Amino acid sequence: MIRLMPRPFAKGTPPAAYFPLGGPVPAGDLVGRESYIRRATARLADGGHILIAGPRRIGKTSVMLEILRRLRRKGLHTAYVDCMGTTDLRGLGERLVDAVLENVSGIERSFEHTKAIAAGMRPTVKIRYEHVELALELAREKNAQRFFEGALDLPRALAGKTGKRVVIAFDELQAAGQLGPRVFDVMRARLQPQRAVSYAFLGSEEGILEELFSEKGRAFYRFATPLDLADAAGHRFGIAPDDWLSYITEKLHERQLQITESDVDTVLDATGGHPQDTMQVCAALYYLMRDAGLRLVTPEAVSVALEQSLRELERPFALHWADLGKGKYLQQVAKRIAHAAVLYAADGAGAVPRAEVLRALAALQARGLVTRLARGRYAFVEPLFGEYVRRLDEAIVQK
Ligand SMILES: Nc1ncnc2c1ncn2[C@@H]1O[C@H](COP(=O)(O)OP(=O)(O)OP(=O)(O)O)[C@@H](O)[C@H]1O
Ligand SMILES: [Mg+2]
Repeated sequence: MIRLMPRPFAKGTPPAAYFPLGGPVPAGDLVGRESYIRRATARLADGGHILIAGPRRIGKTSVMLEILRRLRRKGLHTAYVDCMGTTDLRGLGERLVDAVLENVSGIERSFEHTKAIAAGMRPTVKIRYEHVELALELAREKNAQRFFEGALDLPRALAGKTGKRVVIAFDELQAAGQLGPRVFDVMRARLQPQRAVSYAFLGSEEGILEELFSEKGRAFYRFATPLDLADAAGHRFGIAPDDWLSYITEKLHERQLQITESDVDTVLDATGGHPQDTMQVCAALYYLMRDAGLRLVTPEAVSVALEQSLRELERPFALHWADLGKGKYLQQVAKRIAHAAVLYAADGAGAVPRAEVLRALAALQARGLVTRLARGRYAFVEPLFGEYVRRLDEAIVQK
């Protein structure tokens, strides 16, 4: 999967859209994460390692980038490495080296320069010898495995050289597992003894990550403390509805738009407070109001914005749905959840053996699509996806 993501510290990035969507959001648009961010920042600053695992699009990366910004303000060194989209170990290692060197050189792609200097090119005013010194030997390493291991040692070298704590975030960690055999074992072995370096691990395939960190005998067993983002403080997705209320109200107010508390509730009921879906509906609502020249949000405007958002989400939802078609009974069980039907019903045509229902439920949970509310009660992580699934049947009826 190819995903475009703005670089975390890129300079000159355009200002975020109103109600930004689809990638990490700036601090001002990060709703309801203050206490989580403080807790995580303190742990990392103290030398602890953390795990942020959770479903897609709930703000893992946004939260992490804000944590790193704060740590930098405190004077620590930081590096953000996305493990998704690299095709080999060397590529992942180079990302890490670039991110580590940026602390010294102040520029994004220092490793290219390092290689040139290692090959005999002269340093420049912009890239000086001391900017890349740390990685010169590494730049000459031909063997990919040794290169990767050397890259994993670089954060410690940076800490040793500068006397400052270094904090490294590996995002989409599960993707690193596909780059070679025993990648995680190698990582654990290299990272374990690094006293002056704190690690944050992030990822979205919950099942895989949980196993990796909580099962005995797995590479990262008890290496990092999981800080649950999806359930922080007992709120769904860890964000208090009051925080959404004040954010949405103020954000609209900045543009002279008014919304009532009950209209905000309607939005949150429909999205379940899922962060990206909520922002999607707010953005739709904002542009709708602006285009229509309206000042006061009405229930009708909210329902039009919801319909609009469902249309915008149709493509990603259709992909999820097609994906479920590849698994046994996943679509059937998903439909039962969507319609709040009895899960284990042995109704004639749609009969699914109980064991298969259980297997399907586990698979839907492992994909981060479904969550268990109580015994025998399940719901979609994204209520709007549930709505999409319900409408699939209506579409057939209408035909
Ligand atoms: N705390 C938040 N406040 C407001 N919007 C949020 C928040 N968290 C996430 N979002 C919305 O979700 C989108 C995705 O955020 P982000 O990329 O940080 O999530 P993620 O969990 O890392 O996603 P992915 O699973 O794609 O890696 C943002 O662009 C924004 O619209
Ligand atoms: Mg992310």
